[in-house]
Amino acid sequence: MTTPVSAAFTETDLDAIAGAEGRVAVFVTPEGKLDPAGRRVNRLTKGALARLIEADTLDGKSPGDVLTLDWPAGMTARALDIVVLPRSATVDESRRAGVALGRKIGEAGLLILGGSLKRPVEVVLGAVLRAYEFSVHKTAEAKAKGAVTAMVAKPDEVEADAAPALMVAEGVFFTRDLVSEPANHLTTTEFASRIEAMKDLGLKITILEESDMEKLGMGALLSVGLGSATPSKLAVMEWQGGKAGDAPLALVGKGVIFDTGGISIKPAQGMEDMTMDMAGAGVVAGVMRTLARRQAKANVVGLVGLVENMVSDRATRPGDVVTSMKGDTIEVINTDAEGRMVLADVLWYAQETYKPRGVIDLATLTGAAIVALGHENAAALSTDDTLCDAVLKAANAEGEGLWRMPLGKAYADMMKSDIADVKNSGGRPAGTITAAEFLHRFIQDDMPWVHLDIAGVASVKSETTYAPKGASGWGVMTLNRLVADMLEG
Ligand code: BES
Ligand code: MN
Ligand code: ZN
Repeated sequence: MTTPVSAAFTETDLDAIAGAEGRVAVFVTPEGKLDPAGRRVNRLTKGALARLIEADTLDGKSPGDVLTLDWPAGMTARALDIVVLPRSATVDESRRAGVALGRKIGEAGLLILGGSLKRPVEVVLGAVLRAYEFSVHKTAEAKAKGAVTAMVAKPDEVEADAAPALMVAEGVFFTRDLVSEPANHLTTTEFASRIEAMKDLGLKITILEESDMEKLGMGALLSVGLGSATPSKLAVMEWQGGKAGDAPLALVGKGVIFDTGGISIKPAQGMEDMTMDMAGAGVVAGVMRTLARRQAKANVVGLVGLVENMVSDRATRPGDVVTSMKGDTIEVINTDAEGRMVLADVLWYAQETYKPRGVIDLATLTGAAIVALGHENAAALSTDDTLCDAVLKAANAEGEGLWRMPLGKAYADMMKSDIADVKNSGGRPAGTITAAEFLHRFIQDDMPWVHLDIAGVASVKSETTYAPKGASGWGVMTLNRLVADMLEG
């Protein structure tokens, strides 16, 4: 697995600034004011820093923008990054500044001169999140990224503040590793064993095998994996950090380790991207990891349906009718609408087994979510304004794009089947909404529920707010904050 970029906090040490090997970051206000560390660096560089910011270089610069001086005279650093940041920088500005620095971290690491920063932890978090790299399949000697060290006024206090933030980063990295991993490596069995290993963190793990799911009548989930050699599984992660007996929040994830489309096979072009079709499950696993690592005072249960949508003589056919655990019969119009088949049974099982206080599901469910919102926002669809608003607020606070879309009976009617209770595809119009209405059938009366379609944001071909191109880990930070605000607040 990828080793997270490590972070440490120390007292300001002038000799260490002069002798730093990697990159050094100093901060300047938009008005051109340096802090004491900046002035020290200016003396070391014989005024080069001041000359650079006296020129018109700060004009038009926004918080988080970076000017770079390579091989600054008077220092051993390979580069001096001068970050424009107001003294009162917001969380968002501070993280963006960190991201700009994290983009450039090399083997020799980064020294942040953060003595005067209002939010040093957010700068470090941004840098660490952006410096992530998935290089486990590069055989050429992988150059590990160096550590991030921040010199701050009160290192012990800042370090204590940083600990939970870095546990969030660990959860994000866990998710990104899962999402990046190709399906011949991350089989359903391997996914389950990575989840199982989180027992050591105090999570209670249960894995349901195909035979267990047959007994429970999970004909919808099981129909998806029929064509695959890797067995379908349902993995449950329970975190009991809250009051005993308090109903948990349930997080449900789509874990299709690869989506060929099944017999309704996808075109070859771009099919390789379907290795990320387990991102919903990946995010749930990452959040559960973070909650356990930071000993969250909340009861949360994560449930993920792990399957592979393959083609074979045993695969489900278009036209087949299957029976879900709930008892509803489903006509399979399109075997490529498989995620909702998986979620139908996992959602029902979650509600029957855990009687949760609310359910949030995450899934790379529809290409239509990308058509509607591109890669900037995930789609939220919900029957409960209170829970949905709380999720939107958490996403906004964490800088993860999320936009609500409507539900409605007219959309649900588009899923009516001639021969079964419901069909699994309503065609192209409003594809994200009809998919959500399909899931809605499997939500019990009065159960607060939010569906998050993360097809557009889970893995992106260009860099995103906090991540290099590839798996983003979108949702780990949002759900961690939701738990903190709603259940621990
Ligand atoms: N996993 C896909 C959705 C997807 C597409 C995720 C692109 C990420 C990027 C999903 O299983 C799927 O194939 N959905 C179909 C549904 C249709 C057959 C009703 C789709 O969106 O075309
Ligand atoms: Mn599909
Ligand atoms: Zn899929």
